[in-house]
Order: sequence, then structure tokens, then C-alpha cells
Amino acid sequence: MRTVIVLAAGVGKRMKSDLPKVLHPVLGRTLVGHVLAAVGAALPGSRVLVVIGRDAERVAEHVAEQAPHAGTVLQAEQRGTGHAVRVALDAVPDDDGPVVVLNGDLPLISPDTLHALVAEHEAARAGVTLLTAAVANPAGAGRIVRDDGGGVARIVEQRDASPAELAINEINAGAYAFDAGALREMLGKISTNNDQGEEYLTDVVGLMVAGGWPVRAHLTADPDETLGCNDRAELAALRATMRARINTRLMLAGVGIVDPATTWIDVTATVAPDAVIEPNTHLRGASLVEPGAVVGPDTSLIDTEVGAGATVVRTHADRARVGPGAMVGPYAYLRPGTVLGAKAKVGTFVETKNAELGEGAKVPHLSYIGDATIGEHSNVGAATVTVNYDGVRKHHTVIGAHARTGADNMFVAPVEVGDGAYTAAGSVIVKDVPPGALGVARGVQRNIDGWVTRRRPGTAAARAAEQALGPVSHEPSGSDEEQAG
Ligand code: UD1
Ligand code: CA
Repeated sequence: MRTVIVLAAGVGKRMKSDLPKVLHPVLGRTLVGHVLAAVGAALPGSRVLVVIGRDAERVAEHVAEQAPHAGTVLQAEQRGTGHAVRVALDAVPDDDGPVVVLNGDLPLISPDTLHALVAEHEAARAGVTLLTAAVANPAGAGRIVRDDGGGVARIVEQRDASPAELAINEINAGAYAFDAGALREMLGKISTNNDQGEEYLTDVVGLMVAGGWPVRAHLTADPDETLGCNDRAELAALRATMRARINTRLMLAGVGIVDPATTWIDVTATVAPDAVIEPNTHLRGASLVEPGAVVGPDTSLIDTEVGAGATVVRTHADRARVGPGAMVGPYAYLRPGTVLGAKAKVGTFVETKNAELGEGAKVPHLSYIGDATIGEHSNVGAATVTVNYDGVRKHHTVIGAHARTGADNMFVAPVEVGDGAYTAAGSVIVKDVPPGALGVARGVQRNIDGWVTRRRPGTAAARAAEQALGPVSHEPSGSDEEQAG
């Protein structure tokens, strides 16, 4: 059986983070999550072991979530990549199949490349086949030292390299396929005689050459695949590379991306052909955008589905479902449990949570709709609040189909407005409104004639009133004259 060992025990000191390096997120997965996904796609049926060390419990939990079939092995002390592999091999039966080793910080490696590396190795029965790349700036990486015949002689780490070796631009990517027996033998021979005093997995290469084992290099055509990350600046560069790669794949599949430089789509999101993504838009998690939908500009969708032909403009949405042809925004906030029917509308400065809008239902302006069901083709007036929270519990508001509720309504839940009912503007609805009824719940207006000219004489308001009313001065209409304010 083939074994895949993923190295994820390192401290990741240069990240300067409480989060272990391999758990830093990049467009939908953690660094190690990307590696495990590539392994799952390229090498199904392999035994997968993740070497953990720093924050072992936390990393193990994440691995269990991300790749339930993978096991973990504890490297209690981080004594180098060679030591990490040695620890992992203790958990693998002797004389077993090939061993693939991958650095945990190699998130851009593609399943195709990984598959090709392992297939080449297994066909050639080499001692080791390693992934290499010719890069413009090799700084930091191990260099591939070749012999006069062009064969791989050994790998030298940056810190141990001579000036001539530092000039080599072919680097070790951190992905290898080994013969298990040869690997075990050579790991027993490596020393800690290097600048860091660590056991270097890379020393196995020179030892295999000396032992007469065939050593092969698989030079990748796309050096970006070998981008690792040691600090946050490299993490950002890696994220940008992954963004470009995802966007290019989607555009070639027919997705309209107006400005790829400001469009961030997680690998886990799905966008259909003929959807259009406007600038400065983020599609995260399991978000799904159907054909003909337009999302953005300035929009973030988290685990949110947008139906065919819908538009979502300047919106933040989390775990929401937007039906086909629906319209959202500008400036909407859809919170978890929002479900918008076909052609529904959630307009400007509207927040929804745990709210279901039927087909064609509209909440166009300045409203909070939480814990509510709104029937099809109903219209909710501007500045409406479903008053869902009594300070202890949440309660539900139901508005039926084809209802018309007035502007500035408070629906004090639990409360129900029947099908085809109306409510008056400015109402505080605390009792159910039967189907077809008009609910009115507000003070009756009265006007005190002439109040301004008497109580605020000489003001601009009084002069304007006098001009509008003409020379006749108006007497108070009753005895209930009041002070303003
Ligand atoms: C390593 C390679 C280098 C290569 C580079 C590619 C060695 C000695 N050097 O260097 O040739 O060019 O990767 O990015 O292997 N880890 C453990 N246990 C340890 C030490 C490290 O699990 O004791 C893990 C880390 O978590 C990381 C991976 O191994 O995922 C690589 O370790 P890192 O320290 O980043 O190696 P580099 O110095 O980058
Ligand atoms: Ca590294």
C-alpha cells in the first residue's frame, strides 16, 4: 500500500501567530487542507499520515474534519523534516509500498502534478523522485545540485550552501516519492551536521545517490505550484497566486469576472458559466452562483446560494439563499437563515435573519426582518421592524400573501398579518390582523391652527406661514393649545 506523509509539525515561527502555520486559511481551505485535498484527488486509496507537533490537538482536530480517512502521528520535538518522516514511518508496516512525502505548506501543488510525480516514480522504480522547479528567486529554498552528467547529486539547504550553490535556481519543492526500504535505510544514516543541527530529509537524496539508487527530478512546468510560505508576506503572495489561478479557471469555463485582481473566490465555491462577478467581490465557503446571476460590486457571500438571473449588489450575505431572479441591495445584510423566493426583493439598508420571503415579496427600504415569514407578492413598507426579541426569547412574525404593510411599522412578535391584509403607516402592530383587514395602530392627528404665528412670532417660519395664509390671522381652533416640543 502507498503511504502519503504530510509534514505539519513545524512551529512556523516566522508567521508570528497564535495559529499554527499550516492552519492559516487561503481561499477556502487551510494550507494543510489544500495539501490534503490534492492528495485525496491525486492519490485516492493511499494511507495518509499527517505529522503533527505544534498545537497537535488543534491540528489533529482540523485534519479529522478535513480528511477523515487520514491519521495523525505526533512528532513531540521538531528535530527536522527527516526526523518527522522517521517518526511517521514508525507507524507504517515494514516493506510496504512507496512513500510520498509532502510539506504541509505546499498548498498550490495540483493533483495533476502530484499524480505525475508519483506515477513517474513508480514506473521508474527509483529510490526517490523529487519535485523541482526553476524559479527566478530561489532564496530560502533547498537547491538541486546536479553532477556533470546532469543527474541529481544532492540537495543543499540555503543556510549550508556555498556562493556557487546559492546561484543555482532549481529548487526543491518539498514533494517527494520514495522507495520505502531505501528511505528507511537512508534516514538511519542522516546526521545533524548542518547549520540548524536538524535531521534534514533532503540529505536522503545524496545518500541515495551514494548508495547507487536511481534518483530522479520531476521539473514542474508551473513553478508557482511550488510556492511555500514561511511568513505573512509570502502567505499574501501565495493567496494572490491562488486567486489568479481560480479566476482564470472560472473565466475559461465561461464565468464573467470583471476585475480578477479584486475578485476573491474560494476553491470551495461554485460559479456557473454566464454568471457575472463585479469588482471587489468575495465568494467564500460553499457559495454557489447560478447562470446569469450578477454578484457585486463590493459584495461578500459566505456559504450563500444565488439563483439564476438574480442580482446581489453591495451586499454582505452569510448562509443565505437568494432565489432565481431575486434582487438584493444595494447595501443589504442577509444573515443566516435568510431564504428569498424567486423574484423577491431585499432593498437598500435592509437586514434579514432567519427570514423567508415568498415569490415576488418585497422589502425595499430601511428595514429589519428577523424571524419572519412573508408570503408571496407581499410588500413591506419602508422602515419596518419585526420586533422579534422580548429580551429573553425570539418570536416569529408571519405576514401572509399579497399583504401591503405601511411604512414605519413595528410588528411585535409573535404576531400574524393575514393574506391580503393592509396595515397603516406608523402602526405598532401587537395584535393579529385578519385576512383582508386594515390594521391601524397609531395616535390620531390633530392640527392647532395659527400656533406658529402666535407662539413663534417674528421667526422665518411665522413669516412663511403668514405669507401662505394671507393677511387674515387665524384664531386657535380649540382650547387645547399646547407648547411645542
Ligand atoms: C524545506 C526543505 C527545502 C525546500 C523547502 C520547500 C528540508 C530540510 N528543507 O525547507 O529543501 O526547498 O522545504 O518549501 O526539508 N516540519 C515538521 N517537523 C519538523 C520540521 C518541519 O513537520 O521537525 C514540517 C513543517 O511544518 C513544514 C515542512 O515540514 O510543513 C517543511 O518545513 P520548513 O521548516 O518549512 O522547511 P524549509 O526550511 O522551508
Ligand atoms: Ca517551508
